[in-house]
Amino acid sequence: MSAAGIVAAAGSGLRLGADRPKALVPLAGRPLVAWAVETLLTGGVDEVVVAVPAADRDGFAAALPRGVRLVEGGATRTASVRAALAAVRPGVDAVLVHDAARPLTPPAVVARVLHALAAGAPAVVPVLPVVDTTVAVDPAGTVTAALDRSTLRRVQTPQGFSHVVLAEAYGALPAGEELTDDAAVVRAIGVPVRTVDGDERAAKVTVPHDLHLAELQVRR
Ligand code: CTP
Ligand code: MG
Repeated sequence: MSAAGIVAAAGSGLRLGADRPKALVPLAGRPLVAWAVETLLTGGVDEVVVAVPAADRDGFAAALPRGVRLVEGGATRTASVRAALAAVRPGVDAVLVHDAARPLTPPAVVARVLHALAAGAPAVVPVLPVVDTTVAVDPAGTVTAALDRSTLRRVQTPQGFSHVVLAEAYGALPAGEELTDDAAVVRAIGVPVRTVDGDERAAKVTVPHDLHLAELQVRR
């Protein structure tokens, strides 16, 4: 089974508030996007396409190994993934979509996703249990229900798909429509989404505290 990786790296990183796009912010001296690309390649994908902000193409090219292809991202994550998906070679069997903002994802997570795809799943997401008591609230913030957390999972990336299925799902998604992740795009055409174990180290860097935690993880 051949597999391509897509890295969504075209966001600006408003909540991180750095002086450059989040994917170019260094972690232990290496841009987040370089960590994410390396994880995909080490975990077993054959090639990588990265969606980047149009204005920073040169910075991304300098940060990444030769052979990694860059495409211009869009105004939303959905638009960026759509652009990168169009650049994946037609003959590739599987596509893994990953966030540049999850730099310390262990390659073993990639391998688990690839294994489930090779076993026949059309769509696979890495998930973690919810460990805190989880409640629903009304608009005033008053608790209205305690949710059964045994049925809940936190969803990470990379999310893996049959290439044909993902292309069909994006083809059916109206232009301009934004969904929270790629699994939602395939669920919208009725495709079942399987789960494999995620990893706490695959946490997303969103705010400065997350970057601080990531630095602590790689410190030696
Ligand atoms: N992303 C993208 N294209 C966009 C928006 C986001 O490729 N138009 C990517 C980001 O680069 C990131 C991933 O999607 O790797 C997850 O998005 P998020 O964590 O929200 O990153 P940003 O959108 O950059 O951050 P913020 O929302 O704080 O501005
Ligand atoms: Mg965002």
